[in-house]
Amino acid sequence: MKLLLFFFGLSISEGRVFPPSFKFCAATAAYQIEGAAREEGRSPSIWDVFSHIPGKTDGGQNGDNAVDHYHLFKDDIDLMKQLNFDVFRFSLSPSRILPTPDYKVNEEGIFHYRRVLEYLKFQGIKPLVTLFHWDLPQYMDELYGGLLNATALKEFFSKYAEAAFDGLGDLVDSWSTFNEPYTSCMQGYQYGSMAPGRNIHPESEPYDCIHAVLVSHGAVAKIFKEKFPKGTSNKTISIAVNCDWQEPYTDSEEDKNASIRGLDYYLHVFMDPIYFGKYPDGMVERSQGHLKPLTPEEVELINGSVDVFALNSYTSNYVYNDPNLTLGESYDNDGLLGKTFTSINGTSIGNVTEPSWLYNVPWGIGKLIRHINQRYNPGEILVTENGLCVTGEPNWVGDEVLKDQGRIDFYKGYLNAILDAVEEGVPVSTFCAWSMFDNYEWARGYTQRFGITYVNYTTQERFFKDSALWFGRLINRTEGV
Ligand SMILES: *[C@@H]1O[C@H](CO)[C@@H](O)[C@H](O)[C@H]1NC(C)=O
Ligand SMILES: *[C@@H]1O[C@H](CO)[C@@H](O)[C@H](O)[C@H]1NC(C)=O
Ligand SMILES: *[C@@H]1O[C@H](CO)[C@@H](O)[C@H](O)[C@H]1NC(C)=O
Ligand SMILES: *[C@@H]1O[C@H](CO)[C@@H](O)[C@H](O)[C@H]1NC(C)=O
Ligand SMILES: *[C@@H]1O[C@H](CO)[C@@H](O)[C@H](O)[C@H]1NC(C)=O
Ligand SMILES: *[C@@H]1O[C@H](CO)[C@@H](O)[C@H](O)[C@H]1NC(C)=O
Ligand SMILES: *[C@@H]1O[C@H](CO)[C@@H](O)[C@H](O)[C@H]1NC(C)=O
Ligand SMILES: *[C@@H]1O[C@H](CO)[C@@H](O)[C@H](O)[C@H]1NC(C)=O
Ligand SMILES: *[C@@H]1O[C@H](CO)[C@@H](O)[C@H](O)[C@H]1NC(C)=O
Repeated sequence: MKLLLFFFGLSISEGRVFPPSFKFCAATAAYQIEGAAREEGRSPSIWDVFSHIPGKTDGGQNGDNAVDHYHLFKDDIDLMKQLNFDVFRFSLSPSRILPTPDYKVNEEGIFHYRRVLEYLKFQGIKPLVTLFHWDLPQYMDELYGGLLNATALKEFFSKYAEAAFDGLGDLVDSWSTFNEPYTSCMQGYQYGSMAPGRNIHPESEPYDCIHAVLVSHGAVAKIFKEKFPKGTSNKTISIAVNCDWQEPYTDSEEDKNASIRGLDYYLHVFMDPIYFGKYPDGMVERSQGHLKPLTPEEVELINGSVDVFALNSYTSNYVYNDPNLTLGESYDNDGLLGKTFTSINGTSIGNVTEPSWLYNVPWGIGKLIRHINQRYNPGEILVTENGLCVTGEPNWVGDEVLKDQGRIDFYKGYLNAILDAVEEGVPVSTFCAWSMFDNYEWARGYTQRFGITYVNYTTQERFFKDSALWFGRLINRTEGV
């Protein structure tokens, strides 16, 4: 369908244009892009240690150098500016800011991020700053049991957030505490496939991690509200949770209930405490004592602790009731859920992309944001991550590496689904593409490229893929979706 629209005097050759107030954002995370692992006082994080253990990551690859953004940040911000991005989402490395167990602030770390923020300001790009994107200082793991120890984690995050808010708060309006705590807790403590790589107590540690994260998030939000009271500033705080839409396998009541439980174990377990002051119904009971109800003091800290809803979402799956699982064996089993990407009719939920978990299901994100709006009425939703590595992309050579029409098609699908919801009144304000650059994809190392910008990892040269130029026009409102 070809439409000819006029918008601020520019002609739109195709598709639907986003409202002028809608913001586009380029997303990244410290360990995946910075490199400079041993510079300016930074101490090791759990990811430095995990990625150096043989066999834990593809090809034994690590983030020691990543894409050297620590040194190239000005050039990188210039690239975002060329594409007209409104917002740069990035995370601070906690072990640059509090590198030692005495929690003494490393001024070099603060100074580095001030330079990044000053340069963003100069280029007119708003920062969206994540405090924690999985790279916990190693000393926290060794001394206190890392993300499992609510007492120690809360103390650490309070000191860390204070240092960040005091040192950088004047330059940042939008903050997130944790990125994808579901992933940290499940991959880190149930499956052991990501740092710190534990699968020793999958029946209890994922619950301990969720609890410690919630308490720490609440403590940070309290400090935030004290430092930046409403009315004197418009600064916002959020927690960037992730969720795959959970589509009922059949339209039986059993599977519809399973779909709700799927969302309970993924998303509601974090957001119900934050919006309703309690865990989802049934979770405490099914955990066989591993999940304790929140205490009144914890509810006080956690309930009402976000200003906006930040969501990472990439894919969807079918979910059905599985009564045969045994309660008390693992977090996953306690949901009594079966999951599949194949419908009851034998068809795939969508086309799979390069990562085996990432099916292209644009309608899933539409259902998910409507569900979030209905359940929590959050006022504002930020899609803080979405994207893919295109099927076959790791093997492309020569000029092929920039010709990522599959990525444009994927984003068109998801952004159309989001725009449909926006037009219905679902308050999505912002969309972040994951990622601005090809980068260190955690346990997959450098084997999966999620960037809209190609990086030659030998020379650290950057080249816009076709999708980056497409985003430039989309944000320009010279192209629609
Ligand atoms: C949790 O951290 C506290 C310090 O905040 C420490 O006293 C305690 O021993 C730690 N617990 C475990 C199980 O490591
Ligand atoms: C907050 O935003 C509102 C609405 O945009 C504006 O009227 C107000 O002046 C802002 N307050 C501060 C302290 O920036
Ligand atoms: C579905 O959930 C509702 C509400 O919890 C419950 O009343 C109903 O019995 C459940 N149905 C089935 C088939 O499990
Ligand atoms: C949580 O906060 C909401 C909104 O302020 C309130 O309605 C609810 O009662 C609180 N929940 C608890 C358990 O305190
Ligand atoms: C549960 O076990 C029963 C009996 O073996 C079997 O018929 C049923 O298909 C199983 N359900 C699922 C979801 O696997
Ligand atoms: C399966 O096929 C039936 C009949 O064509 C259709 O109504 C239903 O939507 C399909 N379900 C899925 C999950 O594709
Ligand atoms: C899946 O891929 C096929 C082949 O490239 C394409 O024809 C089809 O439209 C795709 N389906 C979806 C839902 O994207
Ligand atoms: C990366 O740069 C090196 C040095 O210029 C070059 O030899 C190599 O072919 C480049 N890699 C790709 C994939 O372009
Ligand atoms: C933005 O729009 C202008 C005017 O059409 C165009 O010249 C420019 O190349 C566009 N920028 C990008 C990044 O697409």
